[in-house]
Amino acid sequence: MSLLEIEDLKVTFTTADGDVNAVNGVSFHIDKGETLAIVGESGSGKSQTAFATMGLLAKNGRATGKARFDGQDLLQMSQREFNAIRSKDIAMIFQDPMTSLNPYLKVSDQMAEVLMLHKGIGKSQAVQESAHMLDAVRIPDARARITMYPHEFSGGMRQRIMIAMSLLCQPRLLIADEPTTALDVTVQAQIMQLLGDIRQDFGTAVILITHDLGVVAGFCDRTLVMYGGQVMEEGTTDDIFATPAHPYTSGLLKAVPRLDRDDGDLLTIAGEPPDMSNLPTGCPFSPRCVVSLDHCSNQRPAMETTGNRRRACHLPASEVA
Ligand SMILES: Nc1ncnc2c1ncn2[C@@H]1O[C@H](COP(=O)(O)OP(=O)(O)OP(=O)(O)O)[C@@H](O)[C@H]1O
Ligand SMILES: [Mg+2]
Repeated sequence: MSLLEIEDLKVTFTTADGDVNAVNGVSFHIDKGETLAIVGESGSGKSQTAFATMGLLAKNGRATGKARFDGQDLLQMSQREFNAIRSKDIAMIFQDPMTSLNPYLKVSDQMAEVLMLHKGIGKSQAVQESAHMLDAVRIPDARARITMYPHEFSGGMRQRIMIAMSLLCQPRLLIADEPTTALDVTVQAQIMQLLGDIRQDFGTAVILITHDLGVVAGFCDRTLVMYGGQVMEEGTTDDIFATPAHPYTSGLLKAVPRLDRDDGDLLTIAGEPPDMSNLPTGCPFSPRCVVSLDHCSNQRPAMETTGNRRRACHLPASEVA
């Protein structure tokens, strides 16, 4: 049994201008200790997939389908049941650590509170364990700095604190939503390194959500490519990079800066992301696809699986350049 199994997940938001179909029948799984990347342009439904799984959808949103964690369907859980699972079994970190850290509380208080709540241990032991975790994410002089406030740390350090906090209860799954987007490139690399170490040291499965395919290489076992709230293709990260089997993936890859290519060759995907309240009946990518066929706009391609690879595209995989 997989650690997390998402089946036909749909997320719809009710707005004054009609329904927004943010996630449209997404399925995937992640195994114990595995790393899965979810990539796609802004608005492709990556975060809402994670939020629905974590029971964190906005009030105007509703989710259908299944999200089995250890066999239990998360979508059927009450807020109380969810609260027991969050932090303890599944933890999530976000792009901007300041939205998750309380600026008015010392780091020691925020971290200790999580342990006291979930493990029922006393304050001094909780602070000690928290400092130990800050050590693990390589905050220098953790024992002294733990009594500081979040604003006394740099952006990269704050993200480390968030990672430490998310690991306090040794969750089996960590969902990292654009954890490095707000950081400069060097710090980005350090945080990715840290996430990789954590996976090794704690055996935590990691879902990495990012719009930047460049971050994924060398870190994730598998990559899931999303567009218009749907899965375009999925495979091992090596396969996705070596032989993209969907024109959208191919477009994303051409937009990744590479050392072995002149930067003049960098291409962006022409056109605008889709209107999620008015998606085409066929493939959502068809209006921007440079190799689309006549029926792409009105027939949604079925998901086709070959070995550990799957794709939803009418064009034969061998013709995707
Ligand atoms: N509360 C809401 N009400 C209406 N629409 C929403 C709401 N929250 C999100 N959406 C819409 O859902 C769609 C998917 O959003 P989502 O946040 O999952 O995108 P994303 O892939 O994470 O993009 P990004 O890379 O920008 O974070 C977007 O079109 C967004 O505008
Ligand atoms: Mg997002």
